Amino acid sequence: MSKKIGILVGSLRKDSFNKKVAQEIINLLPEGFEGEFVEIGQLPFYNEDIDQGNPPQEYVDFREQLGKYDGFLFQTPEYNRSTTGVLKNALDVGSRPYGESKWTGKPAAVFSASPGAYGGFGANHHLRQTLSFFDMPTMGQPEVYLGSVMGSFDEEGNVNERTKGFLKAAAEALAAHVEKNSK
Ligand SMILES: Cc1cc2nc3c(=O)[nH]c(=O)nc-3n(C[C@H](O)[C@H](O)[C@H](O)COP(=O)(O)O)c2cc1C
Repeated sequence: MSKKIGILVGSLRKDSFNKKVAQEIINLLPEGFEGEFVEIGQLPFYNEDIDQGNPPQEYVDFREQLGKYDGFLFQTPEYNRSTTGVLKNALDVGSRPYGESKWTGKPAAVFSASPGAYGGFGANHHLRQTLSFFDMPTMGQPEVYLGSVMGSFDEEGNVNERTKGFLKAAAEALAAHVEKNSK
């Protein structure tokens, strides 16, 4: 049976660069691994009041979905040198109820992409702080900060060959990391 990797993209934008990069990672995963997008835009802002007794159906479904993955890829844009609010919200929703976090111990990787020169480095590492708290073994190498990301696409809008080669190595490392660290 193939290992399943849940992929959370921190952008809701239709033409999101990060979504395109994540799609390429899905395409490049080696045999025996399956990547699947996990939608996060539907989740109400986390509020402990509405999470008592009868939580919103969106929370219930999301938490149930997270349970089926062997590992996660967080593909984040950078907003003001951090990850995006929508992605942090998803992390918070998945971390509750207290003591029942869906993230605990699951292998993870953080990739970032930005039109800016630093490739979302700040967002990438800010996000790692939260994953560390969740005790998620998080891939160290290769580091994926795709800077000036417009240059990673050809005229048709497809990931160009040079970037594809880099992302293939990243996808293979992600698969190996999940294989090694999942139960
Ligand atoms: C509120 C906001 C803050 C941003 N802050 C940063 C930033 O700190 N660093 C950066 O490189 N780009 C920043 N950007 C630009 C984003 O990287 C850019 O909009 C990018 O395309 C978003 O990712 P996406 O294409 O996946 O939606 C910011 C954009 C917005 C809307």
